[in-house]
Amino acid sequence: MNENIERVFLTQTQIQNKVAEAAAWLDRKFEGKTPLAVCVLKGSVLFFGDLIRAMQTPVELDFMSVSSYGNSSVSSGAPRVTKEPSAKIEGRDILLVEDIIDSGHTLAFLRRYFKERGASSFTAVTLLNKPCRRETCEQADYTCVDAGDEFLVGYGLDYAEQYRNLPYIGILKREAYE
Ligand code: IMP
Ligand code: MG
Repeated sequence: MNENIERVFLTQTQIQNKVAEAAAWLDRKFEGKTPLAVCVLKGSVLFFGDLIRAMQTPVELDFMSVSSYGNSSVSSGAPRVTKEPSAKIEGRDILLVEDIIDSGHTLAFLRRYFKERGASSFTAVTLLNKPCRRETCEQADYTCVDAGDEFLVGYGLDYAEQYRNLPYIGILKREAYE
C-alpha cells in the first residue's frame, strides 16, 4: 500500500459492486432514452469509464472541467468551468458523473449550468458523498457511498494531482496534506 495512505476506504471489489448497483439504477431511470453522460474531469474519469461500461443504456459521452480547489484540500467555494462540454446541451437528458460531493458548491453550480443551457433533465450520480461537509442543500440523485470527514484519494481522486491511479480508494494520512 502507498505509504501516505492511512487505510483503505473502498477496495477494488467494493467499488465494482457499487458501480454495478449504480448502473442498474441508471438503466431503470433512463429506459428508452439516450442520455448525454458528462464526466467531470479529472476526478471522475475512472468511475465514469467503469459506470458507462456497466450500463446497458446507450449513452453519448462528454467531458468538462470545473475548478474550485487548486492544490489545496479545502474548497474555495467558487467553481468555474475550465473546459466546456462539446455537445449541444439543449433538449438533452444530462447524466452528470461526479467523483465526490463535498460542500455541494460544484454540484449547485453544475445544476444551474445545465439548466441555463436548456437541458431537458439533469441527473447527478456521485461515487462518494460527504454529508457532514455540506454548505448547500445539494444532493446527488444517486450516491454510491457516504464518507466521513477524511480526505480520500485513489480511483481518480487526487491530492495535488497525486494518487489518482491507485486502484482502490484510501484515506490520506493527515500529515500528507496538513
Ligand atoms: P464541492 O464543490 O465542495 O462539493 O467539491 C467537490 C470536489 O471537491 C470534488 O469533485 C473533488 O474534486 C474535490 N474533493 C472534495 N473532497 C475530496 C476528497 O476527499 N478527495 C479528493 N477530492 C475531493
Ligand atoms: Mg470533482
